[in-house]
Amino acid sequence: MSQTLEKPDPYNGLRRAEPTLPSTAYYDPDAFRRDLTTIWQRNWVLVCRSADLAEPLSFRTARIGDQEIVVVRDETGALHAFHNTCRHRGAQLCRESQGRLKARLITCPYHAWSYSLRGDLVRVPSKTLPEGFDRKDFPLYSVALEEWRGFVFVNLAETPDAPLARSFDRESGDLSNWPLEDLIAGHVFRTVLKCNWKVFWENFNECLHCPGVHKHLSALVPIYGRGLMVRHDDPEWARNADNDAPEFSGGLRPGAETWSEDGRAHGPSFPGLSDRDRAAGQTYVVSLPSMFVVGHVDYVRSVRLSPLGPEETELTAEWLFTPEQLAAPGFDIANIVDFGLRVLEEDADICEVNQRGLRSARHDRGVLMPEEYDIHRFHQWVRNQHAIHDA
Ligand code: FES
Ligand SMILES: [Fe+2]
Repeated sequence: MSQTLEKPDPYNGLRRAEPTLPSTAYYDPDAFRRDLTTIWQRNWVLVCRSADLAEPLSFRTARIGDQEIVVVRDETGALHAFHNTCRHRGAQLCRESQGRLKARLITCPYHAWSYSLRGDLVRVPSKTLPEGFDRKDFPLYSVALEEWRGFVFVNLAETPDAPLARSFDRESGDLSNWPLEDLIAGHVFRTVLKCNWKVFWENFNECLHCPGVHKHLSALVPIYGRGLMVRHDDPEWARNADNDAPEFSGGLRPGAETWSEDGRAHGPSFPGLSDRDRAAGQTYVVSLPSMFVVGHVDYVRSVRLSPLGPEETELTAEWLFTPEQLAAPGFDIANIVDFGLRVLEEDADICEVNQRGLRSARHDRGVLMPEEYDIHRFHQWVRNQHAIHDA
């Protein structure tokens, strides 16, 4: 009964009608700029997998709003991130989105200033250096970088408010039994959604749309077919508190093991998983504003967001497997990827529908229903970030 004392009513739903963010938050250029400066430039943002930079001297560029950074692995194996901008007159340093440097130097394509992979300015090809100029004063603009279990994050704040470990959502599930570090991408899907980045997060934070938008997913995850995400989203949850049928527990339909076209897992499931991990069907870890990762018994999917404009968001999804799974004869990756792709495309499409309606001059803002409690939490997070970081 102590559980009852700690949380007298575990029903998740909203009890009051809460307003959404104002419609202008989703298309106004000033609102977008505010999101960039108070959220995207102040929080940890996923840029790639460590395995994308496996070799020394490999690099990748990444865009976060109007900022471009370059991540590079130095000759000792350490990763570094910098603004992709030369200290001389500001030229873009790396023009390719990924590749391998030919030497242990980043050399600007304009006048050939060269930097070590730690960011020190080491070569200036002028015939003579002017008085008052010291190379030490012009290192690359460094960017904070941290890794989490094979995922590379950066933080554009000169002094990040908190370490990366603190950036995960408190409601995140636990993926510690999944071998995240060892996984490699078997499939990558990239698309540009014609919607504000917040429209995507709102969509991710409710399943009220699932019965109408995701027919296949709702058949596989019966609780989603009821428009709910987890057991305690149901106002009647107490009546079914001991019922482990998936429409109440949140697991997969009987006979299904994973998110795939036929519900079957392909290859052995990850050996470290507990019975609970397996029964969950899907386990999410979320880091606002840029990432969610979902673990299934036999693979992991990551989704990364990058805001390109007020009404444009890049989405990159990766299906991650062990190298052994990918090499196994007869491995049917399409059975897995096709299922997830359909869900993503359904979400992408409905997010764009959402975006197109928001410009109505009459629609100042919307209102949330009880099942949308996590959107309310997201909105509170956004308001809070604005309040903390507004200059
Ligand atoms: S702008 Fe880079 S060397 Fe001149
Ligand atoms: Fe969805």
